[in-house]
Amino acid sequence: MTNKSTPLHVAIVMDGNGRWASKRFLPRIAGHKQGVDSLKRCARACDARGIKVLTVFAFSSENWQRPQEEVSGLMDLFALALGREVPQLKADGVQLRFIGERQGLSARVLKGIEQAEATTADNRKLVLNICFNYGGRWDVVQAAARVAAQGLAMTEQNLSQMMALAHVPDPDLVIRTGGEQRISNFLLWQSAYSEFFFSDTLWPDFDEVALDLAIQSYAKRERRYGKVSGQVDGASTPNESN
Ligand code: IPE
Ligand code: IPE
Ligand code: MG
Repeated sequence: MTNKSTPLHVAIVMDGNGRWASKRFLPRIAGHKQGVDSLKRCARACDARGIKVLTVFAFSSENWQRPQEEVSGLMDLFALALGREVPQLKADGVQLRFIGERQGLSARVLKGIEQAEATTADNRKLVLNICFNYGGRWDVVQAAARVAAQGLAMTEQNLSQMMALAHVPDPDLVIRTGGEQRISNFLLWQSAYSEFFFSDTLWPDFDEVALDLAIQSYAKRERRYGKVSGQVDGASTPNESN
Protein backbone atom coordinates (compact mmCIF):
# COMPACT_ATOMS: atom_id res chain seq x y z
CA MET A 1 0.00 0.00 0.00
CA THR A 2 1.32 3.43 -0.89
CA ASN A 3 -0.05 6.75 0.27
CA LYS A 4 1.38 10.23 0.42
CA SER A 5 2.63 9.67 3.94
CA THR A 6 4.81 6.84 2.66
CA PRO A 7 8.03 8.03 1.05
CA LEU A 8 8.54 6.70 -2.47
CA HIS A 9 12.31 6.93 -2.23
CA VAL A 10 14.24 6.39 1.01
CA ALA A 11 18.01 6.94 1.18
CA ILE A 12 20.12 5.74 4.10
CA VAL A 13 23.60 6.50 5.41
CA MET A 14 24.24 3.10 6.98
CA ASP A 15 26.53 4.26 9.79
CA GLY A 16 27.64 2.66 13.04
CA ASN A 17 28.94 -0.78 12.02
CA GLY A 18 32.36 -0.24 13.59
CA ARG A 19 30.92 0.93 16.91
CA TRP A 20 28.46 -1.99 16.94
CA ALA A 21 31.45 -4.37 16.69
CA SER A 22 33.65 -2.48 19.16
CA LYS A 23 30.92 -2.61 21.79
CA ARG A 24 31.10 -6.40 21.50
CA PHE A 25 34.91 -6.52 21.48
CA LEU A 26 34.75 -7.77 17.88
CA PRO A 27 36.83 -6.58 14.91
CA ARG A 28 35.17 -3.79 12.90
CA ILE A 29 34.61 -6.12 9.96
CA ALA A 30 32.21 -8.15 12.13
CA GLY A 31 30.02 -5.04 12.26
CA HIS A 32 30.15 -4.68 8.49
CA LYS A 33 29.11 -8.33 8.09
CA GLN A 34 26.16 -7.74 10.39
CA GLY A 35 25.43 -4.63 8.36
CA VAL A 36 24.82 -6.75 5.26
CA ASP A 37 22.08 -8.67 7.12
CA SER A 38 20.60 -5.39 8.30
CA LEU A 39 20.44 -4.18 4.70
CA LYS A 40 18.63 -7.35 3.58
CA ARG A 41 16.09 -6.90 6.37
CA CYS A 42 15.68 -3.22 5.56
CA ALA A 43 15.13 -3.86 1.83
CA ARG A 44 12.39 -6.39 2.61
CA ALA A 45 10.78 -4.00 5.09
CA CYS A 46 10.85 -1.11 2.59
CA ASP A 47 9.20 -3.26 -0.06
CA ALA A 48 6.52 -4.39 2.43
CA ARG A 49 5.75 -0.72 3.19
CA GLY A 50 5.29 0.30 -0.44
CA ILE A 51 8.61 2.10 -0.77
CA LYS A 52 9.77 1.80 -4.37
CA VAL A 53 13.37 2.99 -4.23
CA LEU A 54 15.98 2.39 -1.52
CA THR A 55 19.37 4.06 -1.89
CA VAL A 56 22.11 3.16 0.57
CA PHE A 57 25.57 4.55 1.24
CA ALA A 58 27.90 1.56 1.47
CA PHE A 59 31.38 2.99 0.79
CA SER A 60 32.31 6.64 0.36
CA SER A 61 35.02 8.26 -1.76
CA GLU A 62 36.69 9.08 1.57
CA ASN A 63 36.47 5.58 3.06
CA TRP A 64 39.63 4.57 1.13
CA GLN A 65 41.49 6.52 3.81
CA ARG A 66 40.63 3.91 6.44
CA PRO A 67 43.26 1.36 7.53
CA GLN A 68 44.19 -0.89 4.63
CA GLU A 69 42.97 -3.96 6.51
CA GLU A 70 39.45 -2.52 6.85
CA VAL A 71 39.34 -1.38 3.22
CA SER A 72 40.36 -4.79 1.88
CA GLY A 73 37.96 -6.48 4.33
CA LEU A 74 35.14 -4.30 3.01
CA MET A 75 36.02 -5.05 -0.62
CA ASP A 76 36.09 -8.80 0.10
CA LEU A 77 32.82 -8.64 1.98
CA PHE A 78 31.18 -6.65 -0.82
CA ALA A 79 32.24 -9.15 -3.51
CA LEU A 80 31.25 -12.08 -1.32
CA ALA A 81 27.86 -10.63 -0.41
CA LEU A 82 27.10 -9.90 -4.05
CA GLY A 83 27.83 -13.48 -5.09
CA ARG A 84 25.76 -14.85 -2.23
CA GLU A 85 22.73 -12.53 -2.20
CA VAL A 86 21.96 -11.80 -5.85
CA PRO A 87 19.90 -14.97 -6.58
CA GLN A 88 17.51 -14.20 -3.69
CA LEU A 89 17.30 -10.51 -4.60
CA LYS A 90 16.50 -11.49 -8.16
CA ALA A 91 13.75 -13.83 -6.93
CA ASP A 92 12.38 -11.03 -4.71
CA GLY A 93 12.00 -8.63 -7.66
CA VAL A 94 14.77 -6.26 -6.56
CA GLN A 95 16.63 -4.30 -9.24
CA LEU A 96 20.21 -3.65 -8.14
CA ARG A 97 22.06 -0.54 -9.31
CA PHE A 98 25.56 0.47 -8.29
CA ILE A 99 26.24 4.17 -8.02
CA GLY A 100 29.74 5.57 -7.87
CA GLU A 101 33.16 5.76 -9.51
CA ARG A 102 34.05 2.37 -10.99
CA GLN A 103 37.62 3.23 -11.82
CA GLY A 104 39.87 1.98 -9.05
CA LEU A 105 37.65 -0.99 -8.12
CA SER A 106 39.16 -4.48 -8.45
CA ALA A 107 38.28 -6.75 -11.37
CA ARG A 108 36.49 -9.07 -8.92
CA VAL A 109 34.29 -6.31 -7.53
CA LEU A 110 33.56 -4.94 -11.00
CA LYS A 111 32.54 -8.38 -12.24
CA GLY A 112 30.21 -8.79 -9.25
CA ILE A 113 28.63 -5.39 -9.92
CA GLU A 114 28.14 -6.02 -13.62
CA GLN A 115 26.65 -9.48 -13.07
CA ALA A 116 24.32 -8.25 -10.32
CA GLU A 117 23.05 -5.39 -12.50
CA ALA A 118 22.56 -7.60 -15.55
CA THR A 119 20.80 -10.37 -13.60
CA THR A 120 18.31 -8.05 -11.91
CA ALA A 121 17.79 -5.46 -14.68
CA ASP A 122 14.20 -6.51 -15.46
CA ASN A 123 13.03 -6.42 -11.84
CA ARG A 124 10.54 -3.71 -10.93
CA LYS A 125 9.36 -4.27 -7.34
CA LEU A 126 12.09 -2.32 -5.58
CA VAL A 127 15.08 -0.45 -6.97
CA LEU A 128 18.04 -0.85 -4.63
CA ASN A 129 20.78 1.67 -5.40
CA ILE A 130 24.03 0.82 -3.66
CA CYS A 131 26.35 3.82 -3.47
CA PHE A 132 29.81 2.33 -3.54
CA ASN A 133 32.93 4.42 -4.05
CA TYR A 134 30.45 7.27 -4.16
CA GLY A 135 30.68 10.90 -3.16
CA GLY A 136 28.15 13.66 -3.76
CA ARG A 137 30.94 15.92 -5.02
CA TRP A 138 32.19 13.22 -7.40
CA ASP A 139 28.64 12.94 -8.74
CA VAL A 140 28.27 16.68 -9.42
CA VAL A 141 31.68 16.80 -11.10
CA GLN A 142 31.11 13.74 -13.31
CA ALA A 143 27.69 15.07 -14.33
CA ALA A 144 29.12 18.52 -15.16
CA ALA A 145 31.92 16.91 -17.18
CA ARG A 146 29.38 14.93 -19.21
CA VAL A 147 27.21 17.99 -19.82
CA ALA A 148 30.29 19.86 -21.05
CA ALA A 149 31.55 16.94 -23.16
CA GLN A 150 28.21 16.79 -24.97
CA GLY A 151 28.23 20.53 -25.59
CA LEU A 152 24.98 21.02 -23.67
CA ALA A 153 24.00 24.15 -21.77
CA MET A 154 24.90 24.00 -18.07
CA THR A 155 21.33 24.02 -16.77
CA GLU A 156 19.84 22.34 -13.69
CA GLN A 157 17.82 20.08 -15.95
CA ASN A 158 20.78 18.94 -18.05
CA LEU A 159 22.92 18.42 -14.97
CA SER A 160 20.15 16.42 -13.25
CA GLN A 161 19.92 14.14 -16.25
CA MET A 162 23.61 13.32 -16.00
CA MET A 163 23.65 12.66 -12.26
CA ALA A 164 24.19 9.10 -11.12
CA LEU A 165 20.63 8.75 -9.77
CA ALA A 166 18.88 10.13 -12.85
CA HIS A 167 16.90 6.88 -13.17
CA VAL A 168 14.92 7.58 -9.98
CA PRO A 169 13.17 10.59 -8.43
CA ASP A 170 15.01 12.50 -5.68
CA PRO A 171 14.89 10.91 -2.21
CA ASP A 172 11.88 11.91 -0.10
CA LEU A 173 13.47 10.79 3.14
CA VAL A 174 17.17 10.57 4.03
CA ILE A 175 17.93 8.57 7.16
CA ARG A 176 21.30 8.48 8.89
CA THR A 177 21.83 5.84 11.54
CA GLY A 178 24.61 5.78 14.15
CA GLY A 179 23.89 9.10 15.84
CA GLU A 180 25.96 11.50 13.71
CA GLN A 181 24.05 14.42 12.22
CA ARG A 182 25.95 15.13 9.03
CA ILE A 183 25.73 14.26 5.35
CA SER A 184 29.33 13.02 4.86
CA ASN A 185 29.28 13.68 1.09
CA PHE A 186 26.14 11.61 0.41
CA LEU A 187 23.46 12.85 -2.05
CA LEU A 188 24.42 16.55 -2.07
CA TRP A 189 22.46 17.46 -5.20
CA GLN A 190 19.54 15.07 -4.85
CA SER A 191 18.73 15.81 -1.19
CA ALA A 192 18.01 19.52 -1.81
CA TYR A 193 14.39 19.02 -0.64
CA SER A 194 14.59 15.70 1.18
CA GLU A 195 13.35 15.31 4.71
CA PHE A 196 16.10 14.19 7.13
CA PHE A 197 15.84 11.74 10.00
CA PHE A 198 18.74 11.00 12.34
CA SER A 199 18.58 7.77 14.31
CA ASP A 200 20.87 6.90 17.22
CA THR A 201 20.48 3.21 16.37
CA LEU A 202 23.67 1.66 15.02
CA TRP A 203 23.15 0.29 11.52
CA PRO A 204 23.37 -3.44 12.41
CA ASP A 205 20.56 -2.88 14.95
CA PHE A 206 18.36 -0.86 12.57
CA ASP A 207 15.21 -2.98 12.28
CA GLU A 208 11.57 -2.60 11.18
CA VAL A 209 10.69 -0.72 14.38
CA ALA A 210 13.48 1.81 13.79
CA LEU A 211 12.45 2.19 10.13
CA ASP A 212 8.83 2.79 11.13
CA LEU A 213 9.91 5.56 13.52
CA ALA A 214 11.57 7.34 10.61
CA ILE A 215 8.56 6.86 8.35
CA GLN A 216 6.18 8.07 11.07
CA SER A 217 8.28 11.19 11.52
CA TYR A 218 8.29 11.75 7.75
CA ALA A 219 4.50 11.38 7.58
CA LYS A 220 4.08 14.33 9.98
CA ARG A 221 6.25 16.74 8.01
CA GLU A 222 4.94 19.46 5.73
CA ARG A 223 7.08 19.75 2.62
CA ARG A 224 6.82 23.35 1.47
CA TYR A 225 9.52 23.52 -1.23
CA GLY A 226 10.02 27.22 -0.49
CA LYS A 227 6.32 28.10 -0.64
CA VAL A 228 4.13 28.94 2.34
CA SER A 229 2.00 26.58 4.38
CA GLY A 230 -1.13 25.39 2.58
CA GLN A 231 -0.34 27.26 -0.65
CA VAL A 232 -1.98 25.62 -3.67
CA ASP A 233 -1.39 28.06 -6.52
CA GLY A 234 -0.77 31.72 -7.21
CA ALA A 235 2.98 31.32 -7.38
CA SER A 236 4.65 34.32 -8.97
CA THR A 237 7.63 34.33 -11.29
CA PRO A 238 10.91 35.85 -10.02
CA ASN A 239 10.32 39.41 -11.21
CA GLU A 240 6.59 39.78 -10.64
CA SER A 241 6.72 41.07 -7.08
CA ASN A 242 9.31 43.82 -7.49
C1 IPE B 1 29.45 2.58 8.18
O1 IPE B 1 29.86 2.18 9.44
C2 IPE B 1 29.95 1.68 7.08
C3 IPE B 1 31.03 2.25 6.27
C4 IPE B 1 31.44 3.48 6.30
C5 IPE B 1 31.69 1.35 5.33
P1 IPE B 1 31.23 2.69 10.04
O2 IPE B 1 32.31 1.73 9.65
O3 IPE B 1 31.48 4.10 9.69
O4 IPE B 1 30.95 2.55 11.59
P2 IPE B 1 31.36 3.58 12.73
O5 IPE B 1 30.80 4.90 12.35
O6 IPE B 1 32.85 3.58 12.79
O7 IPE B 1 30.72 3.00 13.96
C1 IPE C 1 29.49 7.70 5.80
O1 IPE C 1 29.93 7.20 7.03
C2 IPE C 1 29.78 6.73 4.72
C3 IPE C 1 29.03 5.48 4.75
C4 IPE C 1 28.11 5.15 5.59
C5 IPE C 1 29.36 4.55 3.70
P1 IPE C 1 31.37 7.58 7.61
O2 IPE C 1 31.51 6.85 8.89
O3 IPE C 1 32.42 7.34 6.59
O4 IPE C 1 31.24 9.15 7.84
P2 IPE C 1 32.01 10.11 8.84
O5 IPE C 1 33.49 9.85 8.67
O6 IPE C 1 31.55 9.78 10.22
O7 IPE C 1 31.60 11.49 8.44
MG1 MG D 1 31.01 5.85 10.55
